[in-house]
Amino acid sequence: MALLEVKNVTKVYHAGSAPVLALREISLDLDSGDFVALAGKSGCGKSTLLNLCGAMDFPTSGEVILGGQVTSNLTDAGLTRLRREKVGFIFQSFQLIHTLTAVENVELPLLLAHRSGARAIAAERLRRVEMKEYAHRFPHQLSGGQQQRVAIARALAGNPSLLLADEPTGNLDSATGDTVLTLLRRTAHEFGVAVLTATHSTESAAMFDRIVRMRDGRIAEAAVLL
Ligand SMILES: Nc1ncnc2c1ncn2[C@@H]1O[C@H](COP(=O)(O)OP(=O)(O)OP(=O)(O)O)[C@@H](O)[C@H]1O
Ligand SMILES: [Mg+2]
Repeated sequence: MALLEVKNVTKVYHAGSAPVLALREISLDLDSGDFVALAGKSGCGKSTLLNLCGAMDFPTSGEVILGGQVTSNLTDAGLTRLRREKVGFIFQSFQLIHTLTAVENVELPLLLAHRSGARAIAAERLRRVEMKEYAHRFPHQLSGGQQQRVAIARALAGNPSLLLADEPTGNLDSATGDTVLTLLRRTAHEFGVAVLTATHSTESAAMFDRIVRMRDGRIAEAAVLL
């Protein structure tokens, strides 16, 4: 069984007068160690799909199965546990807490989960993203690429099996963006995390094991590279 199974998923939003069909009959599998891009134009449904994969939201029909659990069937307590134990998220805008240092940002999810040894784990995660020497800086004292590395360390704090990245290089220049993608690739290949990355551009296509292209809420084509 795959770590993540998306089975014939449809998502309809009801916001204004007309319903929005954001995802249509999406099926996708992700295994441990996979580094996969979710590519497509603005509005094609990438963030919607990432949110469903991370059990932050639920399909209108079809199923998302993460670590053998159907997300729609879980209780609130079960969902909290699933997200905490299995999923890490990173965003285009980093979303670090500005009043906390780098190491405190990484430590926070561990403290919230009542994990012992939080500071030592946080320090190890910062080492993993080569940010150890910046541990005591505040986010505004770091470059965008450095902030994103801290955000990756934070996402990895709880040892997730799935890392979801929503346009993680969108605010970075291409060289810095490539550094971040290299780090995500290593996270997949060396640490066995399944990494799903939404991206507008396919400039760095060769970095990924696989590219899933979306158009108007559908999967347009799934090409296997390498
Ligand atoms: N909460 C919501 N309520 C209503 N409609 C929404 C909601 N979130 C997204 N949508 C709509 O669903 C569709 C898919 O949006 P989504 O954010 O998943 O696209 P995206 O591929 O991530 O775009 P971008 O590249 O701009 O981030 C769009 O038409 C969007 O307007
Ligand atoms: Mg988006």
